[in-house]
Amino acid sequence: MFAMTARSHTSKPEFYAELCGQLRALLSGESDPIANAANTSALLFHAMPDLNWAGFYFLQSEVELVLGPFQGKPACVRIAVGKGVCGAAVERGSSMLVEDVHAFRGHIPCDANSRSELVIPLLRDDGVFGVLDLDSPTAGRFNSDDQAGVEALAAIYVAQSDWSE
Ligand code: SME
Repeated sequence: MFAMTARSHTSKPEFYAELCGQLRALLSGESDPIANAANTSALLFHAMPDLNWAGFYFLQSEVELVLGPFQGKPACVRIAVGKGVCGAAVERGSSMLVEDVHAFRGHIPCDANSRSELVIPLLRDDGVFGVLDLDSPTAGRFNSDDQAGVEALAAIYVAQSDWSE
């Protein structure tokens, strides 16, 4: 059984350094991308404070993301590239940090409680193949420390998962 540790941290960088260690340990020895996405979303949802959704969307074609493993309320299944915060992250190939989703034109509301969102594109040699999406019920929940930390977590997921199997 995997035991999550909960400690008090003086800073977000410290928090993410520890969470990265937990994710490496959790995924160690497993390369199945769906199993790893499921466990990554579960770890983040339970370890990170103030989230209402954490999960994955994967590109099923060049133009469309499809819902993958997640934790939180049921979500929209298909998102066109270029649409919503997730589709924008794919189109730009860079992370999207949205402090207030109500102020983001084209935001796709899946859970009406969501107020801020952080979307990290998943990158491998042939380009973006999906996104890791985090939602919070608190406006301004995510800052640049969260972006750097979750980018590091996403990179661990990508490095540990083998899509060729
Ligand atoms: N809000 C996202 C859609 C996915 S849900 O938040 C889970 C978007 O605008 O792309």
